[in-house]
Amino acid sequence: MKAIVYHRYGSPDVLKLEEVQKPTPADNQLLIKVYAVSINRSDWEGLTGKPLYARIGGLIKPNNKILGSDIAGIVEAVGKDVKQFKPGDEVFGLMLNYGGGFAEYACTSGKALVLKPADLTFEEAAAIPQAAFIAVQGIREKGQVQPGQKVLINGAGGGTGTFAIQLAKLAGAEVTGVDNAEKLELMQSLGADHVIDYTKEDFTKNGKQYDLILDVIAHRSVFAYKRALGSNGSCFVVGGSLATFFQILLLGPSIRRASGKNIRVLVVQTDPKDLIYMTNLIESGKVVLVIDKRYPFSETAEALRYLGEGHAKGKVVITVG
Ligand SMILES: NC(=O)c1ccc[n+]([C@@H]2O[C@H](COP(=O)([O-])OP(=O)(O)OC[C@H]3O[C@@H](n4cnc5c(N)ncnc54)[C@H](OP(=O)(O)O)[C@@H]3O)[C@@H](O)[C@H]2O)c1
Repeated sequence: MKAIVYHRYGSPDVLKLEEVQKPTPADNQLLIKVYAVSINRSDWEGLTGKPLYARIGGLIKPNNKILGSDIAGIVEAVGKDVKQFKPGDEVFGLMLNYGGGFAEYACTSGKALVLKPADLTFEEAAAIPQAAFIAVQGIREKGQVQPGQKVLINGAGGGTGTFAIQLAKLAGAEVTGVDNAEKLELMQSLGADHVIDYTKEDFTKNGKQYDLILDVIAHRSVFAYKRALGSNGSCFVVGGSLATFFQILLLGPSIRRASGKNIRVLVVQTDPKDLIYMTNLIESGKVVLVIDKRYPFSETAEALRYLGEGHAKGKVVITVG
């Protein structure tokens, strides 16, 4: 089968379209013919090896040679222990090790997969999983946003952010979206009440405070988040610099005890019910799925470059099948 492979960390130039062995499903896995896969920042991080946590599967060079975590396709075969899916099912979801999706076929367990609704295309379905898991948990399950609360989403014009703005608005919050100037209009069109261009203003230094901050691209000190949180506010950090993560892990508990402000690294769970929840909102028109660009499989490197260079508004999708 064909796959987009890389053997060392680097720019999109290190990605090559190669012929590799078709994977064989283990007893608890499905073999899926991939029709579409979307690009996530985690792919960019896995490609460049930055931040350092992206090298968890190989410090010097990547062990997993194929990136791609969000897939949609048709089940071709199932291992003997798989009961909930059968060959011919149209499915979509997350590859549990955040890789293997930039390929004509992928093997994964069904734990983060669901059946694809007939009214969504494969491209639309592939654009949902990772961003949906993060947004649903950050805003709804951990964030527990209530009507009237002030919510700030940092990195709100990307994959997770475009869902998170809409979930916070559905919960009745007053929402501030932070991203670059190119994405301010998009954030407003999705319902953001206030928008901030991160190249011009630091949201932790403008004197405003929030009940919930969801940061998908965190690089600040724990004290900056504390300053921007109102009393008993919460800040959940899902991606960003390792220094910020360590500082939060180290100092977050004592800040919580001393001030009641809850600053944590959010470890995202991949429960299929969250994927179904978001998909239902999209199908009912309550949430808009923002797909910025679609690329053919052979141009996967260009698709990653587009996201990595800071242009992607919402999601970028690759058509494989
Ligand atoms: N904790 C967990 O369990 C877990 C699980 C899965 C994924 N993750 C992580 O969660 C993150 C998800 O990101 P995503 O897929 O939503 O990314 P994304 O689609 O790339 O969105 C990130 C947005 O942030 C913007 N941005 C860049 N620098 C910024 C800054 N200094 N201030 C404000 N915004 C900035 C980007 O704009 P530009 O165009 O300007 O760059 C982009 O629009 C990834 O880091 C991923 O590794 C965590």
